[in-house]
Amino acid sequence: MKTRITELFGIEHPIIQGGMHFVGFAELAAAVSNAGGLGIITGLTQPTAADLADEIARCREMTDKPFGVNLTFLPSLSAPDYPGYIKAVIDGGVTVVETAGRNPQEHLPALRQAGIRIIHKCTSVRHAQKAESIGCDAVSVDGFECGGHPGEDDIPNMILLPRAAQELTIPFVASGGMADARSLVAALAMGAEGINMGTRFIATREAPVHARVKAAIVAASELDTRLVMRPLRNTERVLNNAAAGRLLDKERALGDKLKIEDIIDEVAGVYPRVMLDGDMEAGVWSCGMVAGLIDDVPSCKELIDRIMRDADVLINQRLLGMVEA
Ligand SMILES: Cc1cc2nc3c(=O)[nH]c(=O)nc-3n(C[C@H](O)[C@H](O)[C@H](O)COP(=O)(O)O)c2cc1C
Repeated sequence: MKTRITELFGIEHPIIQGGMHFVGFAELAAAVSNAGGLGIITGLTQPTAADLADEIARCREMTDKPFGVNLTFLPSLSAPDYPGYIKAVIDGGVTVVETAGRNPQEHLPALRQAGIRIIHKCTSVRHAQKAESIGCDAVSVDGFECGGHPGEDDIPNMILLPRAAQELTIPFVASGGMADARSLVAALAMGAEGINMGTRFIATREAPVHARVKAAIVAASELDTRLVMRPLRNTERVLNNAAAGRLLDKERALGDKLKIEDIIDEVAGVYPRVMLDGDMEAGVWSCGMVAGLIDDVPSCKELIDRIMRDADVLINQRLLGMVEA
């Protein structure tokens, strides 16, 4: 399939694996890229810029296809060494960066000078327009369904994607709730040029996370996520567990007096314990509603091949059959 996204990134299929903390290691990024999609290493999971340089080199050993690096710009007082991470990306010959979080404007000149393509992930049309205006090459439009941080507007992709199509000139991919060929074809119909998946790629053979994490996603239904940290305007969609229950109890009890310190035990340092050790009650961790559509743990190639094969049937048999009837 050829879209503006496949052309922009030099990939075979319009399918991107979004950056995921303690999931987006070289093994997963390489597997997605080898399957014809765009794999993405999560920059901030690497403790230092030197570690990111090593991770990029490891990925390069596993694939000769394009892959990207996610740089999440956090609203943090003690900012990570972003210039160092960006240098590692440039020196490592990475061709795509997925930015997320805060406005990436101050970091764009260095990336653009190195010829790197930038796809900014955001959860609203106004932020997507801003990304276009500051020179991003594409955006990933993350709907309310998404795992991770859906923002505070709560607009699902059925509305958000056609709105993005009305306002944007640069290409965009649909992110949040994407799992299969139905997602891809629907996203294309709504104006997107591809899809970005997070949760679906965790439940793959190559995702280097504990088997209990994959099993939890397969077992979960679409009813099993919760929104936490809304009172802090840092909403995160997580899989429901005992920690999410405790966190929401505190939110209810403290109301608008809630501070991050009150819930820090449920959110800080959780990812390595969940993703690597399989300690499923260590705290809250991001997961999309799309868990309700995930029933297996295929390889990345099986997953991507299945999406593209089924999309072909959907378009050329089901949809064409309808219009030709
Ligand atoms: C476990 C997990 C960790 C994530 N970590 C990050 C991250 O560090 N940076 C980021 O930009 N997005 C992160 N995301 C968001 C994903 O890149 C993607 O936008 C989102 O998962 C799409 O929604 P879906 O899960 O419904 O596919 C994370 C998502 C999950 C599920």
